[in-house]
Amino acid sequence: MKVIIRKNSAEGSLWAAHYIADRIKEKAARSADPFVLGLCTGSTPIETYAELIRMVKAGEISFKNVVSFNMDEYVGLPKTHPESYWSFMHKYLFDHIDEPAENIHILNGNAPDLNAECEAYEKAIAAAGGFDLFLGGIGEDGHIAFNEPFSSLNSHTRVVTLTEDTRIVNSRFFNNDMNQVPAQALSVGVATVTGAREVVILAFGPKKAKAVHDAVEGPVSHMCTVSALQLHEFGTIVCDDAAASGLQESSRAYFAAVEAAEKR
Ligand code: GLP
Repeated sequence: MKVIIRKNSAEGSLWAAHYIADRIKEKAARSADPFVLGLCTGSTPIETYAELIRMVKAGEISFKNVVSFNMDEYVGLPKTHPESYWSFMHKYLFDHIDEPAENIHILNGNAPDLNAECEAYEKAIAAAGGFDLFLGGIGEDGHIAFNEPFSSLNSHTRVVTLTEDTRIVNSRFFNNDMNQVPAQALSVGVATVTGAREVVILAFGPKKAKAVHDAVEGPVSHMCTVSALQLHEFGTIVCDDAAASGLQESSRAYFAAVEAAEKR
C-alpha cells in the first residue's frame, strides 16, 4: 500500500485528479478499450472532481471513452432528491464533463427488485472489462462505499443496512435528522472494490485520522472494511496532514521516502 500525504485537501485532491487523468491518458495511448472508473460520493471527492472538470474544460483530458460505475445509492430516495447520489454525481461531475450519458452507471435504489439490480450491476462491471481504477472515500469508521463494519471482505454488490453512526454522520445532509436518512442502501461490496486493478482512496480532515490509522497500521479486519486494501497490490490512500495524524512518525517518513524514490 502507498500513502500519499499532502498539507491539505486541496493539494491531495490535485494529486488524485492528476493521477486519475494520467491513468486515463495512459490507457488511451495503448488501447481503444474504455477506461473503467469506479466513483464515490461524499464531501471528500468534490475538489478532485472540480480539478477533473477544469481539465476537461481546458481540453487536457476527455471522458468520452470512460465508463463509470458509482459505489452506492440510498434505497428508496427518489433519484431527483437533492441528496441522492445520482443528483450528487450530476451536480459535482457528470453535468460538467464529456462522459456520454450511456457510460454512466449508478445503482437504482428504487428498482422493483433490488437483488436483481445488484446482480445486474456486477454483471455490467464484468462486461465492461472490470475496473481499471476505483476512486473511493472512507467513512469515519473506515467503511468503504457503504460496507459498514462486519461486512464481509469478500462481499459484492448488495442491499446493506446502514449503521446508526453512519446515519447520524450523514444526517448533516438531511436537516440534521437521522430519521430522514434512508436506513438501507445498495452498495458495491468490498471485493467489488478490491477487484479493481487499482484502488485510490481519499481521506481528508481530522475525523478520518482513526480510520486511516486502522486501515494502514491496524489488522485486516471487517471492523474497518477499507483495511482490505492491505491485500491489494496497487492500493493508494491519499491523505492530508490531518487525516494522516494518527499514523506513526516512522510510517509517515517511510511513505515520504517511497514517494521521493519513485520521483527520481
Ligand atoms: C458515505 C458514502 C461513502 C463516503 C463516506 C464519507 O458513507 N457512502 O462512499 O466515503 O460517506 O463521506 P465524506 O467524504 O462526506 O466524509
